[in-house]
Amino acid sequence: MCNEIDLDKIDINAEPPAEEPARQYYFMARCREWVRSFERKNNRSPQACVVNMGCQMNARDSEKLRGILEQAGYQESVSEDADFVIYNTCTVRENANNKVYGRLGVLNGYQKKNPRMKIALCGCMMQEQAVVEKIRHSYPFVNLIFGTHNIYKFAELLCTVLEMEDSEGVRKRENRMVIDIWNDTDRIVEALPAQRKYSFKSGVNIMFGCNNFCSYCIVPYVRGRERSRAPEEILKEIEALARDGVKEIMLLGQNVNSYGKNLETPVTFAQLLKEVEKTEGIERIRFMTSHPKDLSDELIEVMRQSSKICRHLHLPLQSGSTDILKKMNRRYTKEQYLSLVDKLRQAMPDIAVTTDIIVGFPGETEADFEETMDVVRKVQYDSAFTFIYSKRTGTPAASMGEQVPEEIVKRRFDRLLKEVQEIAAKKAMRYTGSVQKVLVESRNEQDENLVTGRMSNNSVVHFPGTEEMIGKMIDVSLKECRGFYYIGEVCGNG
Ligand code: SAH
Ligand code: SF4
Ligand code: F3S
Repeated sequence: MCNEIDLDKIDINAEPPAEEPARQYYFMARCREWVRSFERKNNRSPQACVVNMGCQMNARDSEKLRGILEQAGYQESVSEDADFVIYNTCTVRENANNKVYGRLGVLNGYQKKNPRMKIALCGCMMQEQAVVEKIRHSYPFVNLIFGTHNIYKFAELLCTVLEMEDSEGVRKRENRMVIDIWNDTDRIVEALPAQRKYSFKSGVNIMFGCNNFCSYCIVPYVRGRERSRAPEEILKEIEALARDGVKEIMLLGQNVNSYGKNLETPVTFAQLLKEVEKTEGIERIRFMTSHPKDLSDELIEVMRQSSKICRHLHLPLQSGSTDILKKMNRRYTKEQYLSLVDKLRQAMPDIAVTTDIIVGFPGETEADFEETMDVVRKVQYDSAFTFIYSKRTGTPAASMGEQVPEEIVKRRFDRLLKEVQEIAAKKAMRYTGSVQKVLVESRNEQDENLVTGRMSNNSVVHFPGTEEMIGKMIDVSLKECRGFYYIGEVCGNG
């Protein structure tokens, strides 16, 4: 936890301050007062469960929510029958939405047993008006809804919901769902608390939103316009993390390669990386995600020269067909993508390249799909996330004709998946027998004599080890490759 402020020194009977982040710390103090009265009545602390449903950006937001709940005095729980449950939602594909509606039914059952239980929804799905309407009408037991733009206000919203309770601890009938959704913002509030899942690694937001408007993608509509954090703020956060024992950071943005363009004094992503590298104590730097159209030679050179930037690049392809890429508004061709990968491999022969691919975009012909297969075979990805195209209302692709029939998409998807997996397994073999630096992340879930960690290229390694190794960088000899992970041994042990 960074940025600790003594909440007990805040006068909660005074008017809330207008400026941020002081205002949110004031509301955290008021929430803590509520928690104390809960503890007096119930002889226990209230429990809170934060469920993350989306990408790394969402995961980082969830850590911020947990940080605030922790400051307020909530105890963390992984069980969804807690006193406070919040779903941080994703809406990038239709099935993400359906999952939420299904699980809300289960939460309703828990709330009936524990009427003090509060249910909150936030994240990308809540930025869709139709979703909020549906929840308002069909799921009236939800206590709080807010979106992606005002997540910094969580302490204030939580306080409103908690203080709505009557003396019995049950929601007063006249009190309705609290809904606070903004359409966009250019505001970035710094210095709020965040709780980390791991003590030794952390995500760091460098920018928010996206301006790319790929024609299938809902993210720009639910996350708003691209805005970058000031480099000083980013570096301050990373220095604080390093002081706190963090060794690996992941710089986060929907398109990190366009970082800094909208700052008063523009800075490139490569320049930012060079500064981040200077932070003592940080041993590994990762970043996510890189749009191929913005990946500069300057960035490749900074990566090549760096001993801290990991040898891994996630470079979403989406489609191998130049025609489909055009319809997707990706702004690169098949040839440009392939030459970019060549350039990367020439600079860093050992770099792992991973990707995202969508199958069944409107109008995708058999020939278009073969172009995707061709790129997959040429690039030889270390791994690839493959998705079936999902129609997202409000995006340009949703109103394009020629939606591809389901059974054709399914057949293409299966073929692609098989190819991707075979290549990945073959590529993984090439490291067997080598010695790699592994940052140990956890005890193995199945076998407690093993620990699990990651190599610089993001591959997972299991090897015999102890709890004390967690968070340490260890030389491991890779004995065996089992498809998507390795079995290793601490170097020097044979
Ligand atoms: N900003 C990142 C990723 C955002 S979403 C980037 O540009 O790479 C993560 C992935 O979800 C995308 O790369 C894409 O492959 C997939 N995706 C986005 N919208 C989708 C849709 N409508 N249907 C299927 N997959 C989609
Ligand atoms: Fe979506 Fe494209 Fe932005 Fe990625 S770059 S978030 S795929 S619009
Ligand atoms: Fe999903 Fe929002 Fe991330 S839609 S993929 S959680 S930015």
